[in-house]
Amino acid sequence: MSLLQLRAVRRRFMLGETAIDALHGISLDIRAGEFLAVWGPSGSGKSTLMNLIGLLDAPTSGEIFFAGQDTRQLNDDALTAFRAQQIGFVFQSFNLVPVLSALENVMLPLQIRGVGEAEAKARAAQVLAEVGLEKFTASRPDKLSGGQRQRVAIARTLVVSPKLVIADEPTANLDSDNSQMIVELMREMNRAKGVTFVFTTHDPRLLQHVDRKILLRDGDIQSDEVMA
Ligand SMILES: Nc1ncnc2c1ncn2[C@@H]1O[C@H](COP(=O)(O)OP(=O)(O)O)[C@@H](O)[C@H]1O
Ligand SMILES: [Mg+2]
Repeated sequence: MSLLQLRAVRRRFMLGETAIDALHGISLDIRAGEFLAVWGPSGSGKSTLMNLIGLLDAPTSGEIFFAGQDTRQLNDDALTAFRAQQIGFVFQSFNLVPVLSALENVMLPLQIRGVGEAEAKARAAQVLAEVGLEKFTASRPDKLSGGQRQRVAIARTLVVSPKLVIADEPTANLDSDNSQMIVELMREMNRAKGVTFVFTTHDPRLLQHVDRKILLRDGDIQSDEVMA
């Protein structure tokens, strides 16, 4: 089943009088449960595409269907609610709250949704254990390595059970060993929970665990390879 369908999606940015066509009419289906990398050089349109499939931005023309829903039919409030229910984000800069412990960071999205303290704590502790951080629940982000911080960020995203996780260059601030570990962790979570993952990278070494890799170049899909 297709989780996402993009049809002839274009995104044009205007810089004064100058038009920048960041995406030139992309058509793409993403199936539920896929583990997919979008790769390509800087400026190829990866972040623009992630913002569109994360429903953070709207195409200049073309259509995006999410779980069969035509996203053009959703107003801003409906889009925000839809995003909160279905989509998780992981960022290259981790975006953890510095004054909160790892556990409190992971509890936060649950508390925002009105889950009570005791249940939030139990669920956050469970997901932190799943990402291998059971010994670090009380640590603040500045006591954790970059790889550990990104694990906390992934736990925080997964704790509310999104259908789709979008990770735009999640390893850009990590060394190569930690980058591999983060991709492997996302792969494990994809398999264990059936969550669809789409991540971007400019590093071809990170593509060995993916089901499918889409190469972007100058706003077009240059290749779309499904692994055997
Ligand atoms: N908000 C924006 N305003 C103007 N141009 C933009 C904006 N966002 C992206 N671009 C341009 O679109 C192209 C693709 O950018 P981006 O999607 O960030 O690529 P990548 O993530 O692959 O590095 C680049 O030429 C970039 O300068
Ligand atoms: Mg980018």
